[in-house]
Amino acid sequence: MAQITLGLIGLGTVGTGVVRLLRENGDLIEKKTGIRFRLKKIADRGIHLFREFPLDGYELAEKAEAVLEDPEIEIAIELIGGYEPARTYLLQAIESGKHVVTANKALLAKFGGEIFALADKVGVEVGFEGSVAGTVPIIRVLQDGLAANRIEKVMGIVNGTTNFILTRMTEDGMSYAEALAEATRRGFAEADPTLDVDGEDAAHKLSILATLAFGVRPERGDIHVEGIRDLGSEDIAFAKDNGYVIKLLAIGRKTNGHVELRVHPALVPKNHPLASVRDEFNAVFVKGDASRETMYYGRGAGQMPTASAVLSDIIEIAERALHSPRGSRPAESRMRKRTLYWSSDKFKPIYEVRTRYYLRFPIADTPGAIGALTTILGKHGVSIAAVRASIVDSSAKKGRIEILTHEAEEMAVKVSCTEIDATGILRDRPRLIRVED
Ligand code: HSE
Repeated sequence: MAQITLGLIGLGTVGTGVVRLLRENGDLIEKKTGIRFRLKKIADRGIHLFREFPLDGYELAEKAEAVLEDPEIEIAIELIGGYEPARTYLLQAIESGKHVVTANKALLAKFGGEIFALADKVGVEVGFEGSVAGTVPIIRVLQDGLAANRIEKVMGIVNGTTNFILTRMTEDGMSYAEALAEATRRGFAEADPTLDVDGEDAAHKLSILATLAFGVRPERGDIHVEGIRDLGSEDIAFAKDNGYVIKLLAIGRKTNGHVELRVHPALVPKNHPLASVRDEFNAVFVKGDASRETMYYGRGAGQMPTASAVLSDIIEIAERALHSPRGSRPAESRMRKRTLYWSSDKFKPIYEVRTRYYLRFPIADTPGAIGALTTILGKHGVSIAAVRASIVDSSAKKGRIEILTHEAEEMAVKVSCTEIDATGILRDRPRLIRVED
């Protein structure tokens, strides 16, 4: 029976899941693939504090070098997260001819070019299925399943923590802080949960999806990012009362030589397939020119779902390495066969993006306020689909105007809001949430 020797760096939530899955399903994987996966070494700074289950049978080390410098290890699994030392470890593993598997979306979003280039040069594989949408095999969908398509749009819920928070706030009235604490307790959140709630984690994943879908290499500044911190009970209530749910969406869209990339909360109609994606579940909607609309769904965070994705990379790389036509290792690199960055499309700035908007204006209850406001929107070509005015406190003469626009350009909407603010009819800053359907 063929055998592949593995080394794991990082025994956190996902690393522990990988060890557990190999222990629990190793025999089954062996039956299915004809390959025995031998996890030889586990390296983690806190390895001696690990108490979840006995680690008998593995060589344990505090330093990653134990894995990196072991010539017997053919696949190095990096699950420590963050930029450094993860980047150095991956590059070192590749340099020494090991295939690598990682779920490190932040690292790939920023240093993917360098990592894939080195892997191509050396001729080893980089597996990263676990980096986007947890267990959902969206990387393979874009690399293989939809390979013949021109991808027009990728739109998804790709952060489990924020989806969990928004679901709990909407369905049980849980506070933001309580919901975040629960997501952290369940192991969904990043070590630094600001990456989740500020939209950065979703932006990392969108960057990877955009490369596979559109052939571009986005820098952080090419992606417009807004998180969920500013969402309040008024936003949730508006969504509920008007047939929407609020979701943090990652959107990539290709239009005439441009690619727009944005992460922000959005109002999604309740009958849209993405509206029913609850808790830590993720879903990615992909539209290709031939395939048309497709959607992929599953748990986007958590120990075992992400471990399942990591193992899928290990199995695929092992199968290719063992069955490579030349029968020699390291195998011919998958990335060498496919050019990742093939497009010369430009990134579209957010102010040129066209979508629909929900606008809320807290107003002083004065004559002519609605007229003044709608006149300014009209002057900038922002067409109104629905408007609702309400008095929120009659004794204090406080009111609120809520507007749903038809599709409009972001620049026109933002300029209108600034102009409306300058008239002095507002009690507070206007609120803007994009609508996606
Ligand atoms: N913190 C991430 C999330 C983990 O909540 O989706 C999975 O990448």
